Amino acid sequence: MDPMTLLAGALPGTPGVDGYFPVLSLATVDAAGLPDVRTVLLSEIVGEELYFHTDTGSRKVVQLETTPVAALLVTLPEQARQIVARGPVRRVTDEEAARAYHVRSRYLQLLAWTNTVASAQLPAAERESRWAEFAEAHPDGTLTPPAGWCGFAVRPDRMTFWQGGPDGPSHRVEYTRDGNSWTDAHLPG
Ligand SMILES: Cc1cc2nc3c(=O)[nH]c(=O)nc-3n(C[C@H](O)[C@H](O)[C@H](O)COP(=O)(O)O)c2cc1C
Repeated sequence: MDPMTLLAGALPGTPGVDGYFPVLSLATVDAAGLPDVRTVLLSEIVGEELYFHTDTGSRKVVQLETTPVAALLVTLPEQARQIVARGPVRRVTDEEAARAYHVRSRYLQLLAWTNTVASAQLPAAERESRWAEFAEAHPDGTLTPPAGWCGFAVRPDRMTFWQGGPDGPSHRVEYTRDGNSWTDAHLPG
């Protein structure tokens, strides 16, 4: 089985469907070669690409524009499982990003509007009242993506699956893209 299918099968739902967005750790590299990591939601898996969405004002976007590669980590502790994917990243079209915005929950849509660099400078109480005013002024279903809303797609060229067990050794299988197919190697856990 190819590793993208293995990843999709390991998740308890389909990303982007019925409000399910798996949590990922997203690692990027800055202009000085130093690593960064933060949590993002996996918006969707389409073909051989993994999508996530964010704000153009964020640090990760600056880093991805300079160095368009990323590593993603999905941890599934209830299955004693870890999946790491690494590869080149591309910015998706505005149309695709808008589509992803519209399937997010209202809470996440509001968050995208209010989590801007400018609002982070405001006192907490003011941020809360702006959120309430904004939500009231834009009833459910009327929100469109904020100007900075954008998306990225990672096309993994290496995927590593770690599997533990309750009373046995763990094992790791690493898949490396080889043209249009994958080769696999068994590694120590
Ligand atoms: C559970 C969880 C989900 C998150 N999902 C996203 C997301 O999908 N997109 C995003 O830009 N930030 C998301 N964040 C916030 C990021 O972790 C991060 O704080 C923010 O994007 C700024 O990161 P940066 O300065 O490294 O760019 C999430 C945080 C948590 C805890």
